[in-house]
Amino acid sequence: MSHPPSTARTALITGAANGIGFAIARVLAEQGVRVALNDVDLEAARQAAASIGPGHIAVLADVSKEEDVGAMVDETVKAFGRIDILVNNAGIGDGGVATLSQSLERFEKTLAIHVNGAFLVSKAVAPGMAELGRGSIVNLGSVAGQIGIPARTAYSVAKAGIAMMTRVLACEWARYGIRVNAVAPGYVHTRLVAGLIATGRLEEGRIRARTPLGRMAEPEEIARVVAFLASDEASYVTGAVVPVDGGYTAFGGAFDASGENSDYDRL
Ligand SMILES: NC(=O)c1ccc[n+]([C@@H]2O[C@H](COP(=O)([O-])OP(=O)(O)OC[C@H]3O[C@@H](n4cnc5c(N)ncnc54)[C@H](O)[C@@H]3O)[C@@H](O)[C@H]2O)c1
Repeated sequence: MSHPPSTARTALITGAANGIGFAIARVLAEQGVRVALNDVDLEAARQAAASIGPGHIAVLADVSKEEDVGAMVDETVKAFGRIDILVNNAGIGDGGVATLSQSLERFEKTLAIHVNGAFLVSKAVAPGMAELGRGSIVNLGSVAGQIGIPARTAYSVAKAGIAMMTRVLACEWARYGIRVNAVAPGYVHTRLVAGLIATGRLEEGRIRARTPLGRMAEPEEIARVVAFLASDEASYVTGAVVPVDGGYTAFGGAFDASGENSDYDRL
């Protein structure tokens, strides 16, 4: 694998040591982008950066901490000269417990990482993009931010907040040449979802039945849409929250969306 040229586009991806963030790093690297992979787990981010080829870096930060975020952005700009693309991907689950059993601590932590994190990192990166007169920010929303899912209060509120932050920042920062968009994935095969399945809080068969395309997504299927939104191919797209959910939020039938109980012809 060759070193990306110093004129290559550059990207900072938060929470990039695993799952969707790592897939985004791989897809952008394949497109010749120099990538800074952030994570709270620096060792995992280092391994992830090394695995996608030379010229990429790992940067430590807890995105919910303002001092960490400032240091991370400084380190990335020092290494790459500028940041063309920011992907706010870092996130956690909220424990998947019913609201009456949810603790304020977990509620606040979920919001702090998703919402405060996207706010802080966007705010730290935007002045540099504004100076260049161009930039692209892509946030990770979720179907959970669009429709009500019981026992996902904190996560859903966080993702709905991210969708609205996407629209507000898109309107506010268009004048600086910065586009701000989000993807709203359905259920993706990552360790976050594997944890929900392993602890019996999610049944994959039910997800398949509820999804018109009849399956969960692979991380690369989300990453390719993020890469599109980050690119000049999407030069007239801003403020969009793009569903990447196999039709999950489009479906409103009172029967299964796919599988043997989805035969709407006989209903
Ligand atoms: N997996 C899904 O089905 C799904 C669906 C919709 C949206 N999403 C969103 O996609 C994003 C990635 O999810 P994933 O499934 O790949 O999760 P994951 O757990 O596989 O990866 C998340 C990464 O974020 C890192 N991280 C956690 N807290 C952090 C912090 N404070 N600062 C920096 N890094 C931090 C973790 O160490 C991890 O490497 C999240 O925002 C998630 O909410 C996931």
